[in-house]
Amino acid sequence: MFSAETEAKFKHLASIYPRKRSALIPMLLLAQREHSYIKPETIDYVGKYLDLNPSEVDSIMSFYTLLRRHPAGKYHIMICTNLACMLQGSDDIEACVRRKLGVGLGEITPDGLFSAIEFECLGSCTTAPVMQINGEFYENLDVHKTEAILDELRKRG
Ligand code: FES
Repeated sequence: MFSAETEAKFKHLASIYPRKRSALIPMLLLAQREHSYIKPETIDYVGKYLDLNPSEVDSIMSFYTLLRRHPAGKYHIMICTNLACMLQGSDDIEACVRRKLGVGLGEITPDGLFSAIEFECLGSCTTAPVMQINGEFYENLDVHKTEAILDELRKRG
């Protein structure tokens, strides 16, 4: 179900906490990194691994918007549209991303490279407008900077 590398990390995570269940979120993040989202069978798998009922895993997951239940592109873009970013032009950033990708928010580009969503405050309000791609912050954005970032990622493939 997972690569040998991810399995080894699961094993390590399950061994380092006094209570195995503490490994849940790090394990789900690893699973998401490998599959781009948390598959229903992953919930069962991780639950068994940590002696948790799947419904417990599912309910804990519901608190964390970073854990996705649907596939995402290789580069998953989270555009902050909360107050500070909105005042600094996040609408333009969002429009630029949609135009450059050619798909709407919540969709995946046909080549599987990109997906984008709106997100509430990413916690970097002083550098608004901000987006995060696969956990990396891109700050003080404008349309030109955003276009260059997307062009570079597309070039990387
Ligand atoms: S409002 Fe965008 S990072 Fe806080």
